Amino acid sequence: MKKIVILISGRGSNMQAIVDAKIPGAEIAAVISNRPDAAGLAWAAERGIKTIALDHKQFASRDEFDAVLAKKIEGMQPDLIILAGYMRILTDVFVARFEGRMLNIHPSLLPSYPGLHTHQRAIDDGLKIAGCTVHFVTAQLDHGPIVAQAAVPVLDDDTEATLAARVLKQEHQIYPAAVRAFVNGELLLADGKVKRVLPLDGAACLRVPG
Ligand code: GRF
Repeated sequence: MKKIVILISGRGSNMQAIVDAKIPGAEIAAVISNRPDAAGLAWAAERGIKTIALDHKQFASRDEFDAVLAKKIEGMQPDLIILAGYMRILTDVFVARFEGRMLNIHPSLLPSYPGLHTHQRAIDDGLKIAGCTVHFVTAQLDHGPIVAQAAVPVLDDDTEATLAARVLKQEHQIYPAAVRAFVNGELLLADGKVKRVLPLDGAACLRVPG
């Protein structure tokens, strides 16, 4: 069994997609939120998953918060840490501790559009294609070896909300697929890139919503 800890900050729909995928060989050790009122925490608790609320506002500094968070995570000895809408910048010390076993999802086709407000920026720039990326976490925000991507069209009448919804649908496909590949030992990190030992059931590609 591969033990997984999921970090969230809000509604946790990606966390839900991963839990609902019931990935063979994977066990969710805990869902942790830096916001005690995160809707995703209640969803996980209702399903009997261990939940931990660690309010970052109770800590004097980012370093202190990340040190306590890292200790809690390490206590569970997870094989994989999943950032699923976790909206806190991680300290370099934290990232170094878990590098190679921490994944994130970002709602753009990285390395384009790291950071916030990706959908509005994509619309403002007149993009015709947007998407999402699952990647290993490194010290640089929204960078790191890419595991899977999906692309969607940007439509003429898109708003930030409509584009975000189209992208989110794809996030819910590629994140569980990427986690499954990790759990199965199908991802190999070499020269800062992810090579697949086995094919990632077609998810590494262009997915256009049906
Ligand atoms: C997703 O779009 C994710 O890519 C981004 O924040 C959003 C979180 O959504 N990092 P959810 O909490 O998983 O529903």
